[in-house]
Amino acid sequence: MKRAWPLLLLYLATVALVLSGAASAAVLAAAQSNFTPDSTKQAGFPADLYSWVIPADNPESPAKVALGKALFVDRRLSADDSKNCESCHEPAKGFTDQLPTSMGIHNKFGQRNAPTVLNAMFNVTQFWDGRAPTLEEQAKQPILNPIEMGMKNPDDVVAKINAIPEYQNRFQEVFGRPVNYDDLARAIAAFERTQFAFDTPFDKFMAGDQHAITDSAKRGWSIFNGKGRCMSCHGWNPTQPLFTDFKFHNIGVSAHKSDFTPLARKALATIEQTGGVQQIDQLAIGTDLSGLGRFLVTKQPHDIGAFRTMGLRNLLVTQPYFHDGSQATLWDTIDHYNKGGVPNPFLDGGIVPLGLGESEEDDLVAFLLSLTSPAYERASKEEYGLQFKRSRTDRPQRDVAAAMGQKGRTASNLGGPFGDIGPEQALENPAQLGGR
Ligand code: HEC
Ligand code: HEC
Repeated sequence: MKRAWPLLLLYLATVALVLSGAASAAVLAAAQSNFTPDSTKQAGFPADLYSWVIPADNPESPAKVALGKALFVDRRLSADDSKNCESCHEPAKGFTDQLPTSMGIHNKFGQRNAPTVLNAMFNVTQFWDGRAPTLEEQAKQPILNPIEMGMKNPDDVVAKINAIPEYQNRFQEVFGRPVNYDDLARAIAAFERTQFAFDTPFDKFMAGDQHAITDSAKRGWSIFNGKGRCMSCHGWNPTQPLFTDFKFHNIGVSAHKSDFTPLARKALATIEQTGGVQQIDQLAIGTDLSGLGRFLVTKQPHDIGAFRTMGLRNLLVTQPYFHDGSQATLWDTIDHYNKGGVPNPFLDGGIVPLGLGESEEDDLVAFLLSLTSPAYERASKEEYGLQFKRSRTDRPQRDVAAAMGQKGRTASNLGGPFGDIGPEQALENPAQLGGR
């Protein structure tokens, strides 16, 4: 792996050149997008990990990446030429739509919040419930989902794209064969694997620059690893700097509006035992079974209401939060954790009242703000300002009594060893808290 690395760098440099220059003139690469792959020289870029995430049957090449980008922004991939991937994953909005849940063709809203495409190449599985194993398999779903892009079946997509002479040529050039659905997904995935975002103040701090983040962010990092217990699911280390364990946990988000047991019974009656990804996709995006999360994929009771731990980079351009977009601000998400989530029979054992005070929540948000890549610095500061202001008056999730363990949900009745008494962390050297 180590020896292949210089080659990869060379390749990425070439991709950067192609995307910024030659390909922007191509007819297919619609001009509304100006995203370019970021340099691998970014602080915090996990070079070793990156070399693992390029699948053997889909090596990157500049021509393939350019084709994938053209497809990503092409509205003709939707039934009525109204939606492209970018409609819900806009580069300026951190590759999200900043809506609670996404709007597809015919202005229909789905049940789920659009996660970012940035750094998605590192995900062990794709989607909030992990129903797609790879970026390639992921890309095939929204095109066929009746309320996202609404194409009837892969054959129709291939016929539509194949009727465009320039695509015919580009597919031949890149793959050496006529347009087909697998290659279409491969090209899109190859493009997505150029969209990574690191180089944040936090990454610079961990690389040794003690002044890269504020004192408040340093305290937040300490709380993140200590009293806040965030690191038990959103852990960081230099080779896995994505702030996620990629596992599935019920943290009580959909317990707000779902009565899990009858819903799970309904799901089992609905899902054919052989139900493939496409059926799960339709149930997850278009029905109230969505709140069951990972259970739709595994049918295992311990996965009821469980969703994938999301990464935490660039959160101040990807608001609102959680799989249903139910929390408007980072303070609201932290209030959710602070009170011990929303009680339900399937709640993850790691979700307990935290006893965080107001300034500790502010410090946690300051830490999360330090996970902002340079391209989003301005937008994030603005959003931070808005959220800060809102957090002073509007806190729908705040429940101080529950957070302090004074409301029926204490360490003893949760059966957990820690309850609301998470360990304090020493602050002498916060850079060492991340397990270096
Ligand atoms: C109508 C809005 C919409 C369109 C169009 C759309 N997406 Fe998405 N995308 C979403 C939503 C919502 C999710 C989360 C769905 C879920 O997890 O059940 C998602 C999930 C993803 C993910 C998974 C990210 C992760 O962290 O798990 C990727 C990658 C992605 N989309 C890429 C694409 C690509 C490529 C296209 C075009 C072929 C596309 N999307 C079209 C809304 C959209
Ligand atoms: C038990 C595991 C677990 C712990 C502990 C945990 N999280 Fe999470 N986190 C998750 C999961 C799972 C999700 C997605 C949940 C969903 O949407 O249903 C998530 C989502 C989030 C999101 C929303 C991300 C997005 O893109 O919408 C934020 C922000 C977040 N967590 C911050 C924190 C902070 C801060 C802490 C510590 C106070 C913390 N988490 C503790 C598992 C955890």
